[in-house]
Amino acid sequence: MNRPYTFINVAATADGKIDSFERKGSAISSAQDKERMDELRASADAILVGGKTLLDEQPKLTVKSAARRERRIEQGRSPNPIKVGVVTVADIPADSDFIQFGEARRVIFTTAQTSISAIDALRGLGVEVFVDDAPRVDLTKMARTLNDLGVARLMVEGGGTLNFEMMRLGLTDELLIYLAPLIFGGANAPTLADGIGLTRQSALRLRLADVERFDDGGVLLKYLFK
Ligand SMILES: NC(=O)c1ccc[n+]([C@@H]2O[C@H](COP(=O)([O-])OP(=O)(O)OC[C@H]3O[C@@H](n4cnc5c(N)ncnc54)[C@H](OP(=O)(O)O)[C@@H]3O)[C@@H](O)[C@H]2O)c1
Repeated sequence: MNRPYTFINVAATADGKIDSFERKGSAISSAQDKERMDELRASADAILVGGKTLLDEQPKLTVKSAARRERRIEQGRSPNPIKVGVVTVADIPADSDFIQFGEARRVIFTTAQTSISAIDALRGLGVEVFVDDAPRVDLTKMARTLNDLGVARLMVEGGGTLNFEMMRLGLTDELLIYLAPLIFGGANAPTLADGIGLTRQSALRLRLADVERFDDGGVLLKYLFK
């Protein structure tokens, strides 16, 4: 396998939305789920997000718990996984949390639609930048590159467009969904898999591997891709 073992983690409402129609990064996870997610992050070599999530939400993408960062260091690893962003046009502010927050290697996959000056600026800030001469980032090539960078376990943290493409291209092994006891509704609210969609005939098939009931009323579903 010349790509990392890849798992998507999402927090969704009972109606499958990963944000409200306002698209302001609504909180969905419970305290218990955040702990589970931090443990999962600590187990990863890299954390991948899509451009909209990266630019609109300023995720820190670091391991929150000092004890977990310490454990990683004891294992001879970096305190945080590599932060990875996929962005068609990488206009990432120099003061963004992706760049500034925490001690982590940072990698951006982008296209030639990003200006040379923006690419130079990112590289000047220590970000490793890979540029595709295509309308969008080639995710299969990206997965190979991450493998070459030493990423064995890749955690994907959305949003819906990136999740769908990663699944559609057969680049994922596991899907973890924390289903919160909430309904957002809204035809335009993002779901855990957006993009162009599939016909019934070409639907991706999953195998349910585990179900966990949380005290907060949520449910954790663990699926494997067939
Ligand atoms: N609850 C959760 O677990 C969770 C986690 C993360 C995010 N979210 C939510 O998800 C929403 C954002 O999701 P989103 O679907 O709008 O965007 P997204 O998946 O975060 O970002 C997709 C971006 O990646 C770029 N891209 C480049 N090459 C691509 C490729 N080959 N395939 C797919 N994307 C590619 C796209 O650029 P172009 O379209 O310009 O080409 C686009 O900017 C937000 O509301 C956020 O709150 C929720």
